[in-house]
Amino acid sequence: MEPNKPCWCGSGKKYKKCHKAFDEKLHLLKMQGHIIPDHSIIKTPEQIEKIRLSADLNTAVLDAVAAEIRPGMSTQEIDDIVYTYTVDHGGIPAPLNYEGFPKSVCTSINDQICHGIPSEDDILQEGDIVNVDVSTILDGYFSDASRMFMIGEVPENAKRLIQVTEECVRLGLEQAKPWGFLGDIGEAVNTHAQTNGYQVVRDIGGHGVGLEFHEEPFVSYVTRRGTEMVLAPGMMFTIEPMINEGTFEYTVDRDNGWTVYTADGLLSAQIEYMVLITETGHEVLTK
Ligand code: MF3
Ligand code: CO
Repeated sequence: MEPNKPCWCGSGKKYKKCHKAFDEKLHLLKMQGHIIPDHSIIKTPEQIEKIRLSADLNTAVLDAVAAEIRPGMSTQEIDDIVYTYTVDHGGIPAPLNYEGFPKSVCTSINDQICHGIPSEDDILQEGDIVNVDVSTILDGYFSDASRMFMIGEVPENAKRLIQVTEECVRLGLEQAKPWGFLGDIGEAVNTHAQTNGYQVVRDIGGHGVGLEFHEEPFVSYVTRRGTEMVLAPGMMFTIEPMINEGTFEYTVDRDNGWTVYTADGLLSAQIEYMVLITETGHEVLTK
């Protein structure tokens, strides 16, 4: 690219004063055999501001669920809260009609790993653990985050699973910094899960997010340090490991084609944050 032409990132600055050094660094890493991000997944400051607003609404939706969730509630009621709150605040629930998904949110209880479909028949019971995965479109920009909720008093093994899942995400986040690798995050998550006797779900994982619901890169949590895509400022993706008490193997509901269960019927927990790689480290856009 011409050094004096405006930078591809849309900053309006000359290329030589903007992303030239960045491109040179990535080019070198590519020559060394690393996977590098395409310009299309590097967010501009304007895009980041818009995505931030979407993420703020997503967080508010999760807070609205947190305020209401209790034993005896159906997962359909959670869906109603998510739909109503999102639409009332000018957003669209991203899951609704996404590849045929029939509801506004995923609610995954106990041995459900992910993609649980809200239903009037699924009543939250004291002792359940449930993942509520909220994704929002605001002004065309996408956000995505999930939390674990404990329904009343839950068994010790469930508490411990959730605590370790939180620790896995925190350790993964510590590795989210420019010029590191996606594999650094995966290894941190997987090592901590295994140390605690748990297994991490493979082939379902995180993803780039912001301009689309699911963008490049795919984010695995069983990868090795120094491998997978180089992390560069402006990249945005989710960290959302699924941690199983027992085997990482899973089955998919034959009737609805969506809901993923642990193969052994033991518990699974998941926490999802949306992360921006910055010049100095990272920023979590959701809570
Ligand atoms: N929110 C999920 C994720 O983290 C995606 C769910 S797709 C849906 O990627 F259709 F099930 F909503
Ligand atoms: Co996600």
